[in-house]
Amino acid sequence: MIRTKVRKAVFPAAGLGTRFLPATKSIPKEMLALVDKPIIQYGVEEAIAAGCEDIIVITGRGKDCIEDHFDKSYELEALLEARGKMDLLEMTRQVSSLARIISVRQKESLGLGHAILVARDLIGDEPFAVILPDDVIDAEVPCLKQMIDVYDKVQGSVLATQEVEGPSISSYGVLDCTPLAEDPRILEVKNMVEKPTMEDAPSKNAIIGRYILTPKIFDILERIKPGAGGELQLTDGIKGLLQYERVYGYKFEGKRHDAGDKFGMLKATVEFALKREDLGPSFREYLKTLSL
Ligand code: G1P
Repeated sequence: MIRTKVRKAVFPAAGLGTRFLPATKSIPKEMLALVDKPIIQYGVEEAIAAGCEDIIVITGRGKDCIEDHFDKSYELEALLEARGKMDLLEMTRQVSSLARIISVRQKESLGLGHAILVARDLIGDEPFAVILPDDVIDAEVPCLKQMIDVYDKVQGSVLATQEVEGPSISSYGVLDCTPLAEDPRILEVKNMVEKPTMEDAPSKNAIIGRYILTPKIFDILERIKPGAGGELQLTDGIKGLLQYERVYGYKFEGKRHDAGDKFGMLKATVEFALKREDLGPSFREYLKTLSL
């Protein structure tokens, strides 16, 4: 029997992070801190809050510190305990007890579609989530939780989507879709195109880095040819899935930040810091003193 509960979340994290050089020369972009937490931790916490049990990280060379971050750190814990820093000890322990982390290497950077294919044996024959760690989503109900609720309703793959204005649409996968009469936040997808020019974009509905996919996607990813940028694109794989199954877009509630981009990270830092109980009030006062 095919399991239908979404239990596993895949985090592609093998990319080179060229948009954030020079910081990413020797530090994985997934480990860049947004306020005081690596950006990948926001995604992992979201997946756990949505009910996922296994976190599958697709890594590459130089990415070992991602695994270390989620592992137990005996020396650090012993030191914090000896110094009586119990709140920091608690925080450190909480990170390593978050989830079961499984990592697998993508040996060549052949694209997002290829990265997902690398997880095939770890996923097996069940639906799964994909979280792109660059996309940090601030939402009252975790975005992936919202999507799993939609998946339970429609029983088909679900892609997070958001409207994007102007030429920046060509940085995304874009949906050709129609809203469902019973819930206009859910869009039935007819077609999709990866990184179209503004003229060729079929709509303003851009794919954001959260997906729930059925395992049929693996058969298709095995066969796809290089697409935009010469890479094996996940968007092309999902487009192939449309021949067999229905696919839905979902206009999630929440705000998405592109933390893999310098300007996006700056904006996210300001917004997340202002929301923090410990830092927010004094940060707000500081910002007011700037003569902008
Ligand atoms: C990837 C996907 C694209 C999606 C985007 C969302 O692109 O290929 O379809 O719209 O993530 O962040 P990338 O940002 O890796 O170029």
